[in-house]
Amino acid sequence: MPSPFRIATSILAADFTRLGEQITEAEAAGADWIHVDVMDGVFVPTITLGVPIVQAARRVTRLPLDVHLMIVNPERHIQDFADAGADRITVHVETCPHLHRTVQQIRDAGVKPSVTLNPHMPAVIVEDILPFVDMVLVMTVNPGYGGQTFIPEVLAKVRRIHDMIAAQDHPIALEVDGGIDHTTTPLVVAAGADVLVAGTAIFHAPDGIAAGIKALRDAVP
Ligand code: DX5
Ligand code: ZN
Repeated sequence: MPSPFRIATSILAADFTRLGEQITEAEAAGADWIHVDVMDGVFVPTITLGVPIVQAARRVTRLPLDVHLMIVNPERHIQDFADAGADRITVHVETCPHLHRTVQQIRDAGVKPSVTLNPHMPAVIVEDILPFVDMVLVMTVNPGYGGQTFIPEVLAKVRRIHDMIAAQDHPIALEVDGGIDHTTTPLVVAAGADVLVAGTAIFHAPDGIAAGIKALRDAVP
């Protein structure tokens, strides 16, 4: 039976001294996408990864690169991330006063556009952009750090957006990000998520990357 969800492994939790090997190991263990967390120290408190890491990841894997932009003025950087090899680009709605234009810019760059909501933001904010996107990301923690605790109240919003997506006439992936492990995986999958971002649960798994991915898969019978 095919898995009911895809795993986007977040390299924020990887060992950067061995990034290539760790991506290769995750791919061999059945990760579906590589998730790259780009933080600017302005929209979120921390500074993390940028275009050179996307370029490097592109050289070591054929998996889709899922680039999560936690930055202000994302429209200034979309072409660079597209050129670096991004397959998907997600923007936070509050960083885009002209969200439709930014989504079109991502698509025009040959990349699948996605929009995301912080935990406090209502589902309705994405309703009118749904016809234009390939994915919605529901943040299950506040963006800015790996290793945070899942916020269970967000599950109701995952369900709501799942229903909104079902009413659209094109496929839209529903991704969740933050605090995903073997205990929260069944909850988000039951709520309708079909792409699960996981960093800590994979790269810090006590028995290694493959065991971490297997624990997520095994969490949903
Ligand atoms: C949080 C990032 C996440 C983070 C997830 O701001 O967007 O992608 O890396 O990390 P874990 O799986 O450790 O919660
Ligand atoms: Zn992320």
